Amino acid sequence: VRKSIAAVVAAGLLTTACTSPPRTPSVSPSGADGIGAEGIGDPYFPRYGNGGYDVGHYGIQVRYDPATDQLTGRVAITAVAAAPLRRFNLDFTGLPTSKVTVNGQPATAQQQESELVITPAAEVTGDFTVEIDYAGVPQPIKAILGDGGWLHTDDGAIALGQPESASSWFPVNDHPLDKATYDLAISVPEGLAALSNGTPEGTSTADGWTTWRWAERAPMAPYLTTLVIGDYRITSGSHRNRPILTAVAASFPEGGDADAAMARTAEVADFLETQFGPYPFESYGGVVVADPRISYALETQSRPVYGPSFFRAGSDSTWVVAHELAHQWFGDSVSIGGWQHIWLNEGFASYAEWLWAEKDRKISVQSQFDDVYRLMDWTVPTGDPGPANIFSGAVYRRGALTVHALRLTVGDDAFFKILKAWTGERRNGNAVTADFVSLSERVSGKSLRPLFDAWLFGTTQPPLPKP
Ligand code: ARG
Ligand code: ZN
Repeated sequence: VRKSIAAVVAAGLLTTACTSPPRTPSVSPSGADGIGAEGIGDPYFPRYGNGGYDVGHYGIQVRYDPATDQLTGRVAITAVAAAPLRRFNLDFTGLPTSKVTVNGQPATAQQQESELVITPAAEVTGDFTVEIDYAGVPQPIKAILGDGGWLHTDDGAIALGQPESASSWFPVNDHPLDKATYDLAISVPEGLAALSNGTPEGTSTADGWTTWRWAERAPMAPYLTTLVIGDYRITSGSHRNRPILTAVAASFPEGGDADAAMARTAEVADFLETQFGPYPFESYGGVVVADPRISYALETQSRPVYGPSFFRAGSDSTWVVAHELAHQWFGDSVSIGGWQHIWLNEGFASYAEWLWAEKDRKISVQSQFDDVYRLMDWTVPTGDPGPANIFSGAVYRRGALTVHALRLTVGDDAFFKILKAWTGERRNGNAVTADFVSLSERVSGKSLRPLFDAWLFGTTQPPLPKP
């Protein structure tokens, strides 16, 4: 998230350009010809992800030395082939590989742009494993908005980005349709922290290197992985029997706004739980980084990363915490089935800002809706904004308007039942807009297609719903 809705309304910035590039037809992801496709079939990003297999688990071991910018990695992947495969791809931005095995047998690997093409010694069927050793200087990825991928910072590094970033530091099937569990062991020079997703599994130090272990046991989309290395002030404990770990770059003043916002993480998560249903993961957290190149916050699973611009003395920054924590339900636990459905993440996370402002600052949701409804530019369709607009006001603010239009139409009772049914039934899975429309109709008993058509796909201001 980049700016609060309130800030955008105040600045009168509710316009977005209509610039949807033409769609590229997707390649067959099936692997039916024995060759895994180079993309998973996303209409917006045809080369993201790969076809022919599904990853179950990534075991990642990485050593990084900020002094030389050298990363040495080993990834062990367990996957299932959809059909017999004699060749398949992983997404990887090109750190040289030294050893690649499939099912323990040496395989050949060839780097072609951002794809690592792997030819196993023997065709793979059913369950298989891939191990890859690699080393080099990791690079950022030119993402659709701002920097993504690996960033070398003053004191370490930050791996972060949406809609892709993971392929800058490990070989991966980089699309939200292929969620997997993760184990990470990150070695950094003693004295630095190495923060990542999920449950902290302890640290050990030998020969001047400290290894930090993390485990994410709930399925996670690859763009939700993060690695933050550097000098951090860490606060850890437990909340509702789950580990909570927050970290703030040591350069922020101790006890300042960043620390104060992170300290409210559990409180915000507990409030959202009353609105959305049970918190979906086994740990809580957040990381505030100091590098100004991170101009956004991202809902990295169980431990969102916040750029420095959100924390200015005297300003309320808990709205961004509410936004990123709302994504733990909307986006992380229930993940989109393709990037055109991004409003299912951002519309609900933006709506959570309104819910939190009502709870924390007594600003009614209705008044926030009214302000945005009045100023909205309706030219970009929320439900299919085009790849250049996935982070636009059409997705965030018009997405939130759509959520509230649903609430006005079905009433509070059915509305909160819908939200809880969605996060409950779709937990740890993937879903698309049509799934949300059918679930809303089922739970409310109302015909809602015309409503969603107007609010998500129309290009003019829809009339206010009548309850
Ligand atoms: N999903 C993030 C959020 O709304 C936004 C990420 C924007 N990405 C970027 N590369 N600027 O919280
Ligand atoms: Zn967001």
